[in-house]
Amino acid sequence: MIPVKSVDDLMEMAHGYQRSMALFVALKLDVFSALGDGPADARALARRLSADPRRLSILLNAMAAMGLIAKTGETYRNLPIAKDFLSAGTRSKRSILLHHLDCWEEWSGLERKVRGGRKARPDRGGYQENFIRGMEDNARERAVLVAGQIPLRAGERVLDLGGGPGTYAVEWAKRYPGAEVTVFDTRETLRVTRKILREKGATRMVRLLEGDFTEEALGGPYDFIWISQILHAYSEKECIALLRKARRALAPGGRVSIQEFLLEESGDAPPGPAFFSVHMAAVTEGGRAYTAGEVAAMLRAAGFRKVLPGRPDSRGVGIVSGQT
Ligand SMILES: C[S@@+](CC[C@H](N)C(=O)[O-])C[C@H]1O[C@@H](n2cnc3c(N)ncnc32)[C@H](O)[C@@H]1O
Repeated sequence: MIPVKSVDDLMEMAHGYQRSMALFVALKLDVFSALGDGPADARALARRLSADPRRLSILLNAMAAMGLIAKTGETYRNLPIAKDFLSAGTRSKRSILLHHLDCWEEWSGLERKVRGGRKARPDRGGYQENFIRGMEDNARERAVLVAGQIPLRAGERVLDLGGGPGTYAVEWAKRYPGAEVTVFDTRETLRVTRKILREKGATRMVRLLEGDFTEEALGGPYDFIWISQILHAYSEKECIALLRKARRALAPGGRVSIQEFLLEESGDAPPGPAFFSVHMAAVTEGGRAYTAGEVAAMLRAAGFRKVLPGRPDSRGVGIVSGQT
């Protein structure tokens, strides 16, 4: 085990459960034994394993990102480590790994045991508070960079769609005091956003607009719409509908920028976005990570004309922009 020496190491440690569960699920389905019979694509494997093809392909891409299997075009095959240790055979470690999965439930009760059997206390703020404050943790440094990279013109009207804690919105409002910046989000999120803005002394810097963007109008017109870490929670069809709505809320010549954890075009790299995609397969109905090409295609399908995919950073976070 590697001692934690940086915030990246810390995050890696925290995400360990996702790596474990993805591997355990692949083992439970017996993906590696099925691939022992020869290379196959996700659709064929899903038929053999009675699995959901969309979610199975997301899982297979993550296994490929970890170097357990290889992907060529749409076809997957076992690499030596999977052939030797994860599929049926004399050197297999399948049973001991599945035993760890059996222990998972008991680990879920570890907090209670460490508390001497007393009931685990729910967190002060609960799910939404941790989620939205967590978005602020993630965006704090990145927002400074982004606001520097995407300048505003004097007096522009900006919408931070699904803006969560409003980290990006506040950063633009600070740099461009004449800008009119709005954060659109759900009632339960904005309850947390208000607290965060108060703590930062930023309440007056941004306007809050409450609603469900899949159902309600977005207000406007705006000159620039920022859509950060939103699309991955929705299917391609839902994303196109949202982007079309965003285009209609823009003034003539208006711009949109989309920030996401972007997969490479092969879909099985880099590991961060590949696992983030599994996370979305677990926690949403139709979401997953997308490639820059897929985001660009969604923008075009929504009627944006000039579409510019940017280069993702070392964590796979990238921006794709469009103009009406
Ligand atoms: C992953 S967070 C991203 C927050 C922020 N954009 C950022 O990058 O830091 C997703 C945000 O989208 C909001 N959201 C998701 N679905 C929504 C919907 N249907 N209507 C309004 N907001 C929504 C959530 O409440 C949450 O604040």
